[in-house]
Amino acid sequence: MPLVPPHRTAGWSLSRRTLLRTAGAASMAGLLGSSVTGCGGAEEPQSGADTLGLTFPENFTWGAATSAYQIEGAATEDGRGPSIWDTFSHTPGRVRGGDTGDVAADHYHRWESDLDLMAELELASYRFSISWPRVLPEGRGQINQAGLDFYQRLVDGLLERGITPVVTLFHWDLPQALEDLGGWLSRDTAGYFADYATVLVEALGDRVSTWLTLNEPKTVVIVGYQAGIHAPGRRDRAESYIAMHHLMLAHGLGVQALRAGSSQSRIGPALNLTVVYPADDSPEAEAQAERVDGFENRLYLDPVLRGAYPEDTLDEITQISPMVDQIHDGDLEVISTPIDVLAVQYYNPTYVDANGERVTRHPTSEASWQQIHPDGLYDVLTRVTRDYGDIPLLITENGVPTPDAVTADGTVDDPDRITFLRSHLAAAHRAIADGVPLEGYHVWSLLDNFEWAEGYSQRWGIVYVDFDDQRRIPKASAEWYRDVIRRNGI
Ligand code: FCB
Repeated sequence: MPLVPPHRTAGWSLSRRTLLRTAGAASMAGLLGSSVTGCGGAEEPQSGADTLGLTFPENFTWGAATSAYQIEGAATEDGRGPSIWDTFSHTPGRVRGGDTGDVAADHYHRWESDLDLMAELELASYRFSISWPRVLPEGRGQINQAGLDFYQRLVDGLLERGITPVVTLFHWDLPQALEDLGGWLSRDTAGYFADYATVLVEALGDRVSTWLTLNEPKTVVIVGYQAGIHAPGRRDRAESYIAMHHLMLAHGLGVQALRAGSSQSRIGPALNLTVVYPADDSPEAEAQAERVDGFENRLYLDPVLRGAYPEDTLDEITQISPMVDQIHDGDLEVISTPIDVLAVQYYNPTYVDANGERVTRHPTSEASWQQIHPDGLYDVLTRVTRDYGDIPLLITENGVPTPDAVTADGTVDDPDRITFLRSHLAAAHRAIADGVPLEGYHVWSLLDNFEWAEGYSQRWGIVYVDFDDQRRIPKASAEWYRDVIRRNGI
C-alpha cells in the first residue's frame, strides 16, 4: 500500500486552496486498506475487476477533463502570448521544483494521437479549456489565427471521433497583458472576457454545444488572491472579493455573449463545490459550518442561480473589503443570466469546528487539501438540487493524485485511483436514484499534467505521461474506466 508523503511546508507548498490545518491527517493508505462506503453504506469490493451492479441512465455521458496550461506546452509558439501562469511559473520559488508549463504534456503537438487515445478509451465527451492568450495574445484586440486554428482542428478531430467537446473558456491562464491592466481587479477584464467569448463562439459555435465560462472562480479568489499560492500570487483578502465580483460579472457577460452567438448551446459555469459539515454537534460548530458554506458555495451559487449574493457572507465581506462599492446597478441581473447546465467539480468535504477552524476528518490523498469522502459528492449533488432546483448538472472534475510509476513490464497500476473513482461514481449513482438531474461525469484528468503550484509532482491522470519522452501509458484506471463506459455502470 503506497504511503502518502508528509505535507511539505516550504513557502510555495502551503496546502493549496483550502489551507487546511491538517489536524491529525490520516493517510489515504489507511482508507484504502479497509473498504470504502460509497453506495448506501454498502461495502465496496477492492479489486478493479469487481462491479457493484449499478447502471447509469441511458444518456449518461462519460468523459475526461484537462485544461490548456496544464497540458498544451508550446508556450511561445505560433503567436501565443504569455499568461499569468507563464509569469508565475517562471518566478523562482512559486512552483515546486521550478516546474513550468512550457512543455507540459506537449499536447499542442500531440493533439492528434491524444485524440486517438481518447477514442481508444471510448470517451464520449472531452472537457478541455481554451488558452485565452493563444487566441488573443494581448487578451483583447488582434486575433491570433494560428491559435484559433489549433482549437478548430481539435474540435473537428473530436467530432470526427464521435467525442463531444465541452469547452471551458477560462481555466486560470489570464493573458499577462490583461493582468498588467489590473487583471480581475479591473472591471474591464469582465468586458474583455465577453469579447473573447464572442471570438470563440463565432469560430466554434456551430460545432460546440456545451460551453463553460469560468473554471472554479473560488480557487482564483482564495488561492490566487488570498493565499498567493496560485497566479497572480496576491495576498489581500480585501481585494480578493473585488476580483470575485469581476469574475462573476465576466461569467454573466460571457453567458450573454455565448448565447448571442449560438442560441442552441448549453452554457454554464464550472464551480468547485464542497459540503461543509460541523466538526462536532455543538451549535457553535453548526453556525460556523453555515458561515463557511457561504464562502465556499453560496457566494458563487446564489448570484448565478438566485440573482443575489448571500446576505450573511456579503455582510462579513463588507467588514473587510470595499467589494460592494464595485457592484453596479444591473450587475446581479447580468450574473444571473439563465444558464442551462451547472458544471460541478468535487474533490473533498470541509469540516469546521466551533471556532471556524477547518479540521481533517478523513484520510487525505497526496494533495493534503483533499480529504477523501465519496458521500460528500452525494451530499453536494443533492444539496444543489434541493436548494437551487432542477438545473441539469454535469460533473466536470473529480479525481485523485496517486504515486504512479511504470513497472518492469511497462504498465502502470493505480488501484487507489480505481477505488476512488468507483466510490465516487457510486455516490453519484445514488444521487441520480434520489432524483438529481446529473447528466454526465468527467474524470480529472485524462493525462498527468502540470498541477499548478505542485508542478509535475502529483499525477492526476488516468493516462500516465513520461515527461522525459512524452510517452503516454494508459494506467489500469483507464482500462477500468473504459469498461465502466462500455457497460454504462460500475
Ligand atoms: C481543480 C482544477 C484543476 C486541477 C484539479 C486537481 O481545482 O480545476 O485544474 O488542478 O483541481
